[in-house]
Amino acid sequence: MNIILLGPPGAGKGTQAKLLEERHGLKQLSTGDMLRAAVTAGTETGKKAKAIMDRGDLVSDDVVVAIIADRLDQSDVKKGFILDGFPRNTAQAEALDTMLSGKKLKLDAVIEMKVDDEALIQRITGRFTCATCGQGYHDVFHRPKMEGVCDNCGGTTFTRRADDNEKTVRDRLGIYNKQTAPLVRYYGERGSLKTIDGMAEISDVTRQIEGVLSSV
Ligand code: AP5
Ligand code: MG
Repeated sequence: MNIILLGPPGAGKGTQAKLLEERHGLKQLSTGDMLRAAVTAGTETGKKAKAIMDRGDLVSDDVVVAIIADRLDQSDVKKGFILDGFPRNTAQAEALDTMLSGKKLKLDAVIEMKVDDEALIQRITGRFTCATCGQGYHDVFHRPKMEGVCDNCGGTTFTRRADDNEKTVRDRLGIYNKQTAPLVRYYGERGSLKTIDGMAEISDVTRQIEGVLSSV
């Protein structure tokens, strides 16, 4: 099964993609995570992307389309994939259509996660991540069971993203509304769009997504 999780910053795309990976053996393909890994590794792509990401702008279409094209050729996506953070504008969606038809792959669903702006800001500014395994947490909504210890891997070091401050989140939201939100119509016209209530608790959002997956 191949799906897109579509939603603004903080909608819960990464949180739900990780849960779907575990439950269904699908592979999460997060362009944000891949770009952050490139920044940390100091690659040419990472050096170019860092300042753009820190201010919340979009990295160029050529770069992210090439990253996804490369990932779709690898064997770990054969059971299916979850696109998280890609596509982010109409040009990327069209490039994805071309890529998928060239590889004889299809999308089973595009799941739009709807969340109010103020809730998004609260989610993003409270987010932190295990530095060892990448498990995501939140200061209020999702704390580790044991303070300071990752539930998933036992790691004790946590990080916060450079772009997770209120100013950048508001800028990212503006870009989402202008450039990414038109994809709701794009996929709606193609009949693949399903919309869920992303304001619900994490486990309830998972239940809604499972409902969509069982119907496709
Ligand atoms: P990216 O990494 O994709 O960030 P984003 O889209 O802004 O989304 P986030 O990762 O911030 O949110 P999320 O929906 O994953 O939420 P999460 O599950 O963590 O992109 C970053 C940057 O990379 C971009 O700005 C751009 O520069 C560049 N980039 C990436 N892709 C690109 C592309 N295709 N083209 C060009 N540039 C690109 O949840 C957030 C928090 O809320 C967590 O703390 C979580 O615990 C909590 N939470 C989750 N669900 C719930 C819930 N239901 N209730 C309460 N709390 C919840
Ligand atoms: Mg994410």
